[in-house]
Amino acid sequence: MSSYHIKNLEEYFQVYRKSIRYPEVFWEEIAEEHFLWRKKWDNVLSWDFQKPEIKWFEGAKLNITENCIDRHLGIRGDKTAIIWEPNDTNEKAQHISYHDLYERVNKFANVLKGQGIRKGDRVCIYLPMIPELAVSVLACARIGAIHSVVFAGFSASALATRINDCDCKIVLTSDGSYRGKKSIDLKGIVDEALETCPGVETVLVAKRINSDIPMVDGRDKWLEPLLKKASSECEPEIMDAEDPLFILYTSGSTGMPKGMMHTTGGYMVYAAYTFKNVFQYKEEDVYWCTADIGWITGHSYIVYGPLANGATTVMFEGVPNYPDWGRFWEIVEKHKINQFYTAPTAIRALAKEDLKYVEDHDLSSLTVLGSVGEPINEEAWHWYNDHIGKKVCPISDTWWQTETGGIMISPIPFSTPTKPTYASLPMPGIVPCLMGKDGKEVQGNQVLGRLAFKFPWPAMARTIWGNHKRYKETYFADYDNYYFSGDGAMRDEVGYYRITGRVDDVIIVSGHNLGSAPIENAINEHQGVAESAIVGFPHDIKGNALYGFVILKDEALDRDHDELRREINQKITERIGPIAKLDKIQFTSGLPKTRSGKIMRRILRCVAHNTPDELGDTSTLLNPEVVQEIIDNAL
Ligand code: WT7
Repeated sequence: MSSYHIKNLEEYFQVYRKSIRYPEVFWEEIAEEHFLWRKKWDNVLSWDFQKPEIKWFEGAKLNITENCIDRHLGIRGDKTAIIWEPNDTNEKAQHISYHDLYERVNKFANVLKGQGIRKGDRVCIYLPMIPELAVSVLACARIGAIHSVVFAGFSASALATRINDCDCKIVLTSDGSYRGKKSIDLKGIVDEALETCPGVETVLVAKRINSDIPMVDGRDKWLEPLLKKASSECEPEIMDAEDPLFILYTSGSTGMPKGMMHTTGGYMVYAAYTFKNVFQYKEEDVYWCTADIGWITGHSYIVYGPLANGATTVMFEGVPNYPDWGRFWEIVEKHKINQFYTAPTAIRALAKEDLKYVEDHDLSSLTVLGSVGEPINEEAWHWYNDHIGKKVCPISDTWWQTETGGIMISPIPFSTPTKPTYASLPMPGIVPCLMGKDGKEVQGNQVLGRLAFKFPWPAMARTIWGNHKRYKETYFADYDNYYFSGDGAMRDEVGYYRITGRVDDVIIVSGHNLGSAPIENAINEHQGVAESAIVGFPHDIKGNALYGFVILKDEALDRDHDELRREINQKITERIGPIAKLDKIQFTSGLPKTRSGKIMRRILRCVAHNTPDELGDTSTLLNPEVVQEIIDNAL
């Protein structure tokens, strides 16, 4: 028997040891006992971090939607698969059973087929958190089309970049979306994006806000009438374990966003296995992850992981402060949520509000709490533990990445003793290590280093879409034969990991991974801007906020600074989205540069963090004189 479900610490250590000593046996047993395969694999694992090339369950055949839907029909066809909780409290929640989900996914899959979509085609999904989002993701998987979900808070230009990068033929969207009091013209954003996307032939539009929107003849079609006509039976496309399942974009420190490509078999096994253990999900439980399906958290832990376990998973359309700051807790009470998974930025925002918003609600259904997206600070951890978990719900501080496909380091509730701010121990099969300045592994405990992994796991991204060279350079070039995460970490005296944050130019704002380069490019598009650099600085709620240093062109020097700041943030909103707006913008005559012309962000970070005494040596700079000016004018 495999240990699919870990129940205590001793068992965790046993399972972990086995998973490291005999990884192929370990994963093979789990794959065999808990999933439905049309054909078994020829080989569990082959890997080469030099090329790099990683294959799990090669030769196996399956369809992930058979695992997430069909196989549950016999035993839990009437069980609720998805509870959809709308933005507006006056609208009714939807309870979608596994049987309903089967029909909805098949209908949608047939609609896609009717639009000429076939196995391997890329489908861009730009939808708000409405049931059609989960259904369309699964519909793509049903027919072997590769979904590329773009978070519906991204701007037209960010959307266009992502559509073009992987040549999507079709875009799925809605007439609009609700977000708290606001409604957003999503279709308008799509129309603008498509001005620069010649490859898109079809746009399917779901109705959500019933707005009167223009439809482009021959290109745009309402989804509903097509669904009505579609059959609710659609044979699943039988996929190879290593066939692509989806592409999901994440920011890098430079250049274009990276289209992380995930494949089918290994991703499914790993997402399901980690879901079961990290949340200790039991058959009658109701699980809620507050993320958007537009991020990897939603892919793995709203859709695939829970459904592969036959779970009831909640999808929430709204925001934490609408109609008031009690909304999350109202939902927990209403649906009797057992496992609740959110981000530190949300916890900090909620903790700032009056406790009555929490105390007004019965949270006694909760058993496990989760956190993801950035390091959770001690204060937020304790607030979450004291007021939400009432000191009886273990907190899973889950460390992972878009690239890793699933949770890598996390306590297993009721097994691993938790320690505030520590993601703690690796999942079975995961071999983390810390790399030192000399490029070698740092041995022993109570040490610091850069977080890397020396053995493949089933859900790791296999490549960057269309750019395998960048995949190799980004993750496998820093250390020979290791996957490098981009994060720094420490290991305490018992071997627990604590993540200290990014060591590259990626900045995590409110749990969103933002690269500095695309934001700087957006700023530089402002006609008054000559050059710019951004860094992060600590922020009470967002974790990090963005601080921009901007050199103006001569012709803009006399303009009103606040107006310029507004215009710069407007550019960023247009190019990336409101999440990337700067909190502070300092105008300066120069940026500190090395002799090779590289901006010394370290110095800017000291200014933004208000720690100028930590500047260190600036004598090797090309222009040391600008440093004092920047310090004097710091905001
Ligand atoms: C980066 C990955 C994985 C889903 C959400 C983010 C940071 C994520 C934690 C955590 C400390 C964390 C890391 C990582 N991060 N979770 N529990 N503790 N840092 O996915 O957008 O790909 O970002 O988020 O810096 O590298 P992502």
